[in-house]
Amino acid sequence: MAEVKACLFDLDGVIVDTAKYHYLAWKRLANELGFDFTEQDNERLKGVSRVRSLEILLEIGGITLDEQEKQAGMDRKNGWYLEYINKMDSSEVLPGVKAFLQALRDNNIKIALGSASKNAMIILRNIDMVSYFDAIVDGTKTSQAKPDPEVFLLGAKELGVAPSECVVFEDAEAGVEAAKRAEMYCVGVGSAEQLGQADFVIASFDEMSIDRLKF
Ligand code: BG6
Ligand code: MG
Repeated sequence: MAEVKACLFDLDGVIVDTAKYHYLAWKRLANELGFDFTEQDNERLKGVSRVRSLEILLEIGGITLDEQEKQAGMDRKNGWYLEYINKMDSSEVLPGVKAFLQALRDNNIKIALGSASKNAMIILRNIDMVSYFDAIVDGTKTSQAKPDPEVFLLGAKELGVAPSECVVFEDAEAGVEAAKRAEMYCVGVGSAEQLGQADFVIASFDEMSIDRLKF
């Protein structure tokens, strides 16, 4: 590939482990609606938008809601989710992330966030990481959810670099697919079994270095 000029990072599951908070909040909604929601079910929600998450949850419960009820359900879930993320601080940044981002800065490689979350700014402020990013693209700026490539293409555009010069870091299958559809190099963060579409997979950022960006 061309020389790497920018790295684009997903937020949930890459920089912080918020999947556990999403899970607890969705489970509470499922329980209120009268069905159970397991951690295994929660895997299906990783990387997808809030509205798509609700649709998957309702499909699992075999429940149909009208538009107004759906909106109310999402609002309730987000209220509970906010209670968790409002308590977050920098101790929740995943291992190796800050050191790698600092190394990118030292090497003049641009950094963008590419997240589906509408809560991304709250999380970045709470973990004190806003200043690491040259561009922040989140769920308030996009109209198409991953696996659509919009979020990453917009990130590259805001940074002023070509997609072929970008590397995406993603923990969700939908996110890896979005990166590949954007024609970007993709590093999976998590299990190689699950993220087989990525160009290579790391278990954590402790395994990552600038040298590994020379493809
Ligand atoms: C993604 C998460 O980053 O953001 C999904 O992986 C979540 O699980 C999505 O549904 C939307 O997040 P939010 O914070 O806008 O509800
Ligand atoms: Mg993620």
